[in-house]
Order: sequence, then C-alpha cells, then structure tokens
Amino acid sequence: MFAKFHSIGAYAPSNVLSNADLEKMVDTSDEWILKRTGIRERRIANSDEVTSDMGAIASKIAIKRAKLEPQDIDLIVCATVTPDYFNMPSTACIIADKLGVRDVQAFDISAACSGFVYGLSVAKAFIESGMKKHVLVIGAEKFSSIVDYRDRTTCILFGDGAGACVISATEDRSEAIIDVNASADGSYADFLVTPAPGSVNPLTQKVLDEGLNFVKMRGNETFKLAVKTLTKDVRDILKKNGINSSDIDHFIPHQANYRIIKAVGDALKMTERQVVLTIQKYGNTSAASIPMAINDIYEAGRLKRGELMLLDTFGGGLTWASAILPFGGD
Ligand code: ACO
Repeated sequence: MFAKFHSIGAYAPSNVLSNADLEKMVDTSDEWILKRTGIRERRIANSDEVTSDMGAIASKIAIKRAKLEPQDIDLIVCATVTPDYFNMPSTACIIADKLGVRDVQAFDISAACSGFVYGLSVAKAFIESGMKKHVLVIGAEKFSSIVDYRDRTTCILFGDGAGACVISATEDRSEAIIDVNASADGSYADFLVTPAPGSVNPLTQKVLDEGLNFVKMRGNETFKLAVKTLTKDVRDILKKNGINSSDIDHFIPHQANYRIIKAVGDALKMTERQVVLTIQKYGNTSAASIPMAINDIYEAGRLKRGELMLLDTFGGGLTWASAILPFGGD
C-alpha cells in the first residue's frame, strides 16, 4: 500500500497587519522588514477565532476536495505550537469534534515550523503499514497568541492561519509520496523557545511580568543554521531518490524569510518559476506555512495532478524536514 497526497485546503483570517501598522507599534520600518524578510503583511485572527477554528475550516475544504465525508477520516494529526490549550485536550481532538467525527484517533504534533512535514511522515507510515486509509494532516497556528508586540525582532515575522491535506491509501505507486525526511537537534533548543508555561516555568505572576509566555528567537544564528541545514537536507533527499532539482515542478519551502528561501533556491539552481512564495502576504505562519502555500498554487490553477512538489522546512526544536511528492488530487 502507498500513501498519496489527495487534496489540500487552507484558511487565512481576514484581518491584515501591514508593515505600516507595525511601524506604529515598534521601532521598525516597512523598508527594513521588506528588505530583511520579504514580508509586506500578515493575517491576524480575531480574538474569538482560535487555532482549531482555522484548522477545522481548512480541513473541511480538504475533505470536500478529496470527495470524502469527515467520517471517512480515520486519523487526525494536527501540527501546532499554538494549540487551543497548552496541556489538554489536543487541538486535533477539538478539530475532530468541529468536523462532527466522534470516534477517531486524533493527536497533535509539536515540531514548530516543521510540524506539517513531520505530520506527512506520520500519515505515510500509518497508511503504508495498512493501519489507516485516510489521514487528515493539519498545520494550524494562532501565532499572534505567543508574539510580544513590543519586541520588534519577532513581531514583524509571524502571522496566523491554517492548512490541511488528506493523505489517502492507493495501490498506484506512480501517485505515491516518494519520500519524507524529518529530523531534529535538541542541542539548539534555546535558538527558538517559548519559555512558559511549562514544567520549567509554570505560570506565575513573575512569568507574566517577565514576558516568558512569548516566543524568543536568536534570529541571526537561526538564520545561518537554517540556510546551511536546509541546503544539505534538500540536496540529500534529491540525491537519495535520484531526482534532479530541474525535475521539480514546485519547490515549496517554509515561508520564514525570503533571504533563506532565495539562498537555498539558488544553491539548488531553482528557477523563479519553480519557487512558491507567499511570505509577502502571510509572513511566517509556522506549521501552517507549507500547506497554505500549496493551497495558494492550487487555487491559482498552478498545481496539476502528477506534478512534483519538493517541500522543505526548518523550525524550533531545532527541527527540519523535507519531502518529495506528486500532487495526487484533481
Ligand atoms: N526593525 C528594525 N531593525 C531591527 C528589527 C526591526 N524589526 N529587528 C531587528 N533589528 C535590528 C537589530 O536590532 C540589529 O541592530 P544592531 O545592528 O544595531 O544590533 C539589526 O537590525 C540586525 O539584526 P539581526 O538580528 O542581525 O538581523 P537579521 O538580518 O538576522 O534579520 C531576522 C533578523 C529577520 C529575524 C532573521 O534573522 C531571520 O529571519 N531569522 C530566521 C528566522 C527563522 O528561520 N526561524 C525559524 C522558523 S520559525 C519557527 O520555527 C516558529
């Protein structure tokens, strides 16, 4: 049995936070943000719009496009670092409820920006082992809930949103996910961290006073490591599978920083036509970034059945992941 990428769906909140808006909040400029990151604006969820709401909307679209009913899904995996609740229940369980599915295996994955591709590796393994037939993989983030809008080094980067896909069993090897590589190196854990709440820093007034509930990033060091790690990771997965970068129809990198995407794309000799960019309009939506980007080219009519996608991502943990797969939808 093989696993195919069957359908895609996504959701972006309607509120736009532009660089001009951020100029009024912190000491920054549209010019600096655009030049250093490629971001023009990002979407921010309403206060009553939570991670599972966005994930459920994206999921419904993906399930419909796969011509399935929610009850056909037998595993729900939600990648997020901004879950509805930090301990329990998992956001996947809440999304299952919002889809009206009452008896299904559901759990979250915590791998920051790499979460969606980690989810693909889980879906692939469950399907190839014969344990599941239709797996819903979601990347959903309300990143604005952990961003300190007084910290100019992070608040300019992140946005909210969700993407989801259905991975289905198939006997046709030609439409199968070719390979997924997912990895981590915890010795860099302090490069990107939300210090609280957790067992290290349970929630106290002191934690709130010190802003430990907000994301902290060693941006420049993360940047350099991202370029190095991603270039190697993508070269390795292409070589392992005997595929040239020119065979790739759509190179869909995690949308963290245009300069990272450009450096990796150039190292792989990717053309502008191959590289998918959404960073200018959504910023970094963490686990949602890759499925939102896939949905973007799908809705623009640029993603056709059988076309080859190369995914690559890097995030907190530190984690990284890549995947090569044909689009198996209509
Ligand atoms: N506006 C104006 N100036 C700023 C801003 C801002 N928003 N932010 C920082 N600066 C200043 C700094 O204070 C510094 O000033 P100094 O030289 O006087 O000290 C200067 O700009 C340069 O700062 P750097 O941090 O060196 O800037 P850099 O070019 O590295 O860009 C950025 C920063 C955009 C954060 C970049 O490092 C980056 O994109 N890092 C990687 C992010 C990433 O890939 N994360 C992983 C995925 S995210 C996840 O997993 C959740």
